[in-house]
Parts: sequence; C-alpha cells; structure tokens
Amino acid sequence: MSVAVAPVAVRADAAQIEQGRYLFSTRGCADCHGANGAGKTVIKDGPMLIVSPNITSGANSVTTAYKIEDWVRTVRHGDTSADALREKMRFVVELMEGRLKALGFSWSDALATQAYTVHDIGSLIGPEIAAHGAAPAGVTWHLARPPVHGLEFEMDVRGPARELLI
Ligand code: HEC
Repeated sequence: MSVAVAPVAVRADAAQIEQGRYLFSTRGCADCHGANGAGKTVIKDGPMLIVSPNITSGANSVTTAYKIEDWVRTVRHGDTSADALREKMRFVVELMEGRLKALGFSWSDALATQAYTVHDIGSLIGPEIAAHGAAPAGVTWHLARPPVHGLEFEMDVRGPARELLI
C-alpha cells in the first residue's frame, strides 16, 4: 500500500535523544525489540513463533535503508492528528477491501458499513471511505472507542444474503 508520508525535522540534541530513549523504554518497544533494539524472540509457544527484528543502525538491521519518512510511518501509533487519522482510515479501508476480495466479495455487497472512533473523521469520510466505494449503503459512525486498547479507528462491514427486519 502506498500512503504519502511527510518527513519531520529530526533534532539530535541530548534532550531529544534522551526523550527518544525514554519513549523507547516506556512505550513497549524495548519489551519486544530488547533494551538495545537488537531484536529477540518475543513468543515461542508451540507452533507460535514471533521474532522481533533488529531495528538499530548496526549490521543485520531491517532499518538500514530507512528514511525519516519510514520512521514516521512506523511510529505513528497513537497519533490522532487529521493527517494520521487519514492514514489509519486508508489502511483499514484497503485491508478490508483485500479481505472482502479474498472471500469473493466487494464493497458493493456491503449492506452496512460502520466506523468506530471518537476523533473527528467528518471531512475524511468522503475521500477515504465513500470515494473508495466502501459505503454503498452509507456509513454509520459510532462516536465510540474501538474495544481494543490503543486502536483509534476501526470499521466493520456487513452483507447478509437475506436480512429480515421486524
Ligand atoms: C508486541 C511486540 C512489539 C512491540 C511492543 C513493538 N514491536 Fe516493533 N516489531 C515487532 C515485530 C514482531 C516486528 C516484525 C514485524 C514483521 O516483520 O512483520 C517489528 C518490526 C518493527 C520495525 C521494522 C519494520 C520493518 O520495516 O520491517 C520497526 C522499525 C519497529 N518494529 C519499531 C518499533 C518501535 C519504535 C516500537 C515502540 C513504539 C515497537 N516496534 C514496538 C514487535 C514489536
């Protein structure tokens, strides 16, 4: 998927570096990537194996070719600016479209499209949802948080073969 991401100015003074270290160790990054970011086995339980990659600037790192934009994209978790919401919506709509397709359906089969967020997505519904054909029967926007901690935007879609209303 391609989403235009604007770079940010990076300052490398001591205070910013300390703030980065603080965020890395308090926002869960270190839990999975290790205190020094070298990566490690996060879960090994029967057939379940999750290994986090090395994200340092050293050898064997998956971020060697990262540009500032790539870091912005990766760490946008929790960002609820209009721009970040647009990216989240775009991601969700594309993901759902792919899943519908995999099941042999498309947006035109949707009888109800619902969005869940407490953020103002008013001006984004047109370009990010309707324009993608994701709301053939309109959008119901629930002014509510998705039931997953840390998730700022969620959508679901319903398209029964036959619906009885009583
Ligand atoms: C629950 C465990 C977990 C947490 C918490 C976590 N990561 Fe990750 N991270 C992973 C795993 C697993 C991958 C590899 C995903 C893949 O290859 O599909 C990954 C991949 C990455 C990548 C590389 C993506 C790429 O381009 O290949 C970066 C950069 C990254 N994480 C940064 C962070 C930062 C920064 C934080 C904290 C804000 C963080 N991660 C928190 C598990 C985690």
